[in-house]
Amino acid sequence: ERTRVVVVGGGPAGLLLSHLLHTSGVEHVVLEARTREEIYRTTRAGILEASSVSTLVDAGLDRVLREGDRHDGIALRFDGESHRIDLHGLTGSAVWLYPQTEVFTDLADRAAQHGADVRWQATVTDVLDVRTGRPGVRWTDAEGRERELRCDVLVGADGSHSTCRHSLSEDVRRHYVHQYPYAWFGVIVEAPRSAPELVYTTSEHGFALISQRTETHQRLYFQCDPDEDPARWPDDRVWHELQRRVTGTDGFRLLEGPVTERSVLRFRSSVVEPVRHGRMLLAGDAAHTVPPTGAKGLNLALADVVVLHDVLSRWLSRTGGDDTVLDEYGRRVSDRVWRAQHFSAWMSRMLHSHPGESGFERGRRLAELRTLVASESGRRFLAEGYTGWGPVVTE
Ligand code: DHB
Repeated sequence: ERTRVVVVGGGPAGLLLSHLLHTSGVEHVVLEARTREEIYRTTRAGILEASSVSTLVDAGLDRVLREGDRHDGIALRFDGESHRIDLHGLTGSAVWLYPQTEVFTDLADRAAQHGADVRWQATVTDVLDVRTGRPGVRWTDAEGRERELRCDVLVGADGSHSTCRHSLSEDVRRHYVHQYPYAWFGVIVEAPRSAPELVYTTSEHGFALISQRTETHQRLYFQCDPDEDPARWPDDRVWHELQRRVTGTDGFRLLEGPVTERSVLRFRSSVVEPVRHGRMLLAGDAAHTVPPTGAKGLNLALADVVVLHDVLSRWLSRTGGDDTVLDEYGRRVSDRVWRAQHFSAWMSRMLHSHPGESGFERGRRLAELRTLVASESGRRFLAEGYTGWGPVVTE
């Protein structure tokens, strides 16, 4: 079997690429190992930059504008007090709280309407001949049959555990990795919102993030050991831990309710270079991952795909085109990827307590936070990073 573009991975990156390829009339197949329901049921990130919202709206997916919540600010909370960062006032831009699972649903519905060739439960087992003009994959379908699919170009949008990336030998790819000695304990709780905007907190007990979902369900996180076992955390213990991290002189308390989901999210910073290997290109988490503190992962993935589609369409419309044209993709996304790496690592280090942290380091971190919020330039620096560096939707 043969098609022009094989997209490995049917998450937001793969499905956005499918949508863009459809609009430019390029025949393609998306192979996704999970079912649509499994992906939808996995709780993921919540924050979209203005440029990601534009990308979706430009693609005709405007449910985010009706059902997402625009947030014009966030709070940094330390020394038991909240300090609002006025994102909109400082940058003219904002972010939207619109869960990744909704982005996925919008794109999956659109793919179904188009009759796009998205194959669920399609597991890629081998990547074939990427250094030739006829790359491809060996894959197993939902019935367990082994199949082969060839193409002109192969896109690995298959997430942080990427089979596509792993098919490359260590001597052809550089993989820059930074590990963190902490993880996030993430919960969904059935309770009203405790705050109108996100609250990023650091306290003597560690980091916590208060995020929101709906009138009745909220998303909260707190820093934990990467080996923490969610089963050891009954509701009371979760609430005790969260409350003591946000407590302060202003009397702020979280509104409590049953914990309906709990899991440990491990993370690391990583960048793969180059992102093109012959006729295979990597996008989204397959190419880079960030710690969740900067809310950048999904945004980077969508930004990658917009550039990738632009480069691919030009390359595909030439006959006998020069493959080095494809290198433009890596050149154009690299700046944003590394800025996001810096921003995410910076936010993480500033807000988490390193296990065994010295009194000096803790004092230095708090002084960094105080200096930052006391300076309009400091607040603007953070706001520019948080809202992203791309084209901006204005009112
Ligand atoms: C959410 C997740 C993040 O990583 C973040 O930085 C902000 C919000 C969320 O799931 O709502």
